[in-house]
Amino acid sequence: MPSVAKDVYALRAALLDWYDTHARTLAWRSPPGTKARPDPYRVWLSEVMLQQTTTPHATPYFLAFTQRWPTVRDLAAAEDGDVMAAWAGLGYYARARNLLACARAVASGHDGAFPETEEGLRALPGLGAYTAAAVAAIAFGRAANVVDGNVERVMARLFAVETPLPTARPELKSLAGSLVGEERPGDWAQALMDLGATVCRPKTPLCGDCPLTHWCTGFQSGQPERYPLKIKKADRPRRTGFAWVLQDREGRVALVRRPDKGLLGGMLGLPTSDWSAEASDGPPAEADWREAGAIEHVFTHFALTLNVRAARGDGDFIWTPVDEALASLPTVFRKALERGLG
Ligand code: ADE
Repeated sequence: MPSVAKDVYALRAALLDWYDTHARTLAWRSPPGTKARPDPYRVWLSEVMLQQTTTPHATPYFLAFTQRWPTVRDLAAAEDGDVMAAWAGLGYYARARNLLACARAVASGHDGAFPETEEGLRALPGLGAYTAAAVAAIAFGRAANVVDGNVERVMARLFAVETPLPTARPELKSLAGSLVGEERPGDWAQALMDLGATVCRPKTPLCGDCPLTHWCTGFQSGQPERYPLKIKKADRPRRTGFAWVLQDREGRVALVRRPDKGLLGGMLGLPTSDWSAEASDGPPAEADWREAGAIEHVFTHFALTLNVRAARGDGDFIWTPVDEALASLPTVFRKALERGLG
């Protein structure tokens, strides 16, 4: 089989040719090979939405947002509540808050123009490594390494990577980086993502339709769907902690803002103990706490048991109506809240 390393040029040409005829038509996309660059605002907005959901689900939201707020300045000037309401149904409100913060930073700090480099984009509020690379490649034609779950799967198969996810992530990113080139960086990134979404599918890859089988070690193995390998759920370490469901006299629930760094960073959550704690490190407020059972939640790197305690009380928290908390909290906290409400 030809080696990918010696044949990068031919492999890239094969995928870009495939993209020229098979690119999905998406509302935010410039057709393959278009010289005029797409509007960075639309690229950025679509990428933020696509981190939250699938292309069919994101499309009506994208159309509604761009009709109502056609430019980043329009979005920056919007009322917070209007943007939150328009975002409802797309998941985490934290992303909508970040979206607004970023739009405002671009409008006020950058005169309405998105920075053109990955580093410049990364410096904007809430804009992570993936989004910075995607916007740099698609909107500004930079040779950035854009790696989402689809691209990880394509790399795992192409190179028959035996390391399981999530450990394999840096290796898959570096393999993807070895294929990035200066020619058509935006089309390259989107071609890989489209290949992953439509051909190199998770359970039933359509290898007969794939332009890369010639180089694909996973295909040659006869079992491409075996890749990417994943750490079995049973092999994940277990952690235990406590979650506290405190309600005030009006029934609102006490939330806290999580530290920016770390798991679920910057998001609202219930007050909890340290998650490696076998014993409680004490409740967040004096109250008559009752045991409300426990919930299980599986994260990528570990499985968590949270013992839930519930009480009425007061204190210095972000007091939030229960409905709002249930709609916006990350799943692990929503489960604990439901358990604490009884
Ligand atoms: N998934 C996330 N962003 C995408 C894009 N620009 N094209 C295809 N799939 C995507």
